Amino acid sequence: MAWSTGADRRPGAFLRHVRLADDAPTTGYPFALPVVTGLARSGGLPLGPGVTFLVRENGSGKSTLMEAIALAAGLNPEGGSQNFAFATRATESALGDELVLSWSGRKPSTRFFLRAESYYNVATEIERLDRETPLLQAYGGTSPHERSHGESFVDLVTHRFGPRGLYLLDEPEAALSVRGCLAVLARLAELVDQGCQVLVATHSPILLALPGAAIHEIGDDGAIEPVAYDDALPVRLTRDFLAGPDRFLRHLLPDGPA
Ligand SMILES: Nc1ncnc2c1ncn2[C@@H]1O[C@H](COP(=O)(O)OP(=O)(O)OP(=O)(O)O)[C@@H](O)[C@H]1O
Ligand SMILES: [Mg+2]
Repeated sequence: MAWSTGADRRPGAFLRHVRLADDAPTTGYPFALPVVTGLARSGGLPLGPGVTFLVRENGSGKSTLMEAIALAAGLNPEGGSQNFAFATRATESALGDELVLSWSGRKPSTRFFLRAESYYNVATEIERLDRETPLLQAYGGTSPHERSHGESFVDLVTHRFGPRGLYLLDEPEAALSVRGCLAVLARLAELVDQGCQVLVATHSPILLALPGAAIHEIGDDGAIEPVAYDDALPVRLTRDFLAGPDRFLRHLLPDGPA
């Protein structure tokens, strides 16, 4: 991995730009996904320091893109740090090999990919590695398998994540209560102050409220554009639902609300 000499000295500015290689395939999964054709059309996704959120409906390609960025950044596609090399089942797409990442002159002190759907396997690998060289303290002192799903995520971001790190999080809210989301939001703010860069795919209107974060939304045509908090899809839909659940239930349920 090449670290550019044109140094960007802003804290938390490690990964500056993600684009598709000029000679990348254009057909089949994942290259025909709108988010991937959109990435090719736009010339790529610029990333600033601090936290960048990626939002859009289920199936829009967030995980495909996050996994590919993780792979291109030298991380395990199933999750973990740069030292995790296990594979439970090779399901990653070929996109990681076709992404070109541009880095600033700053090198992150550590990197970690949290993938909610496969954290169970990461936890098993943490236990295995701990038997070789003790490392559970770095995760809060208890195996993630002996914590609840949400507790293990909060342990991870609280204890394992540290200053000047690069973190990729795919739906961290999957395990979290509202209070858990608020705890992670507060921890993200601390990590930004400590010079971290974090890319988060999320559906959580709570996490999206992090002050100073950039929110990028994948459009119908696959274009990835910045949006304001109030305009972000998870925020608009959740707000509309909470303002009048009956209006939604009338459409969703044959007999309407009781
Ligand atoms: N191995 C695969 N082969 C073919 N299509 C796939 C494969 N994996 C995922 N897809 C498709 O790619 C699309 C994008 O999936 P992806 O998991 O990236 O979406 P997502 O935005 O992360 O969704 P969610 O919000 O539900 O997590 C989906 O339509 C999915 O069905
Ligand atoms: Mg996903």
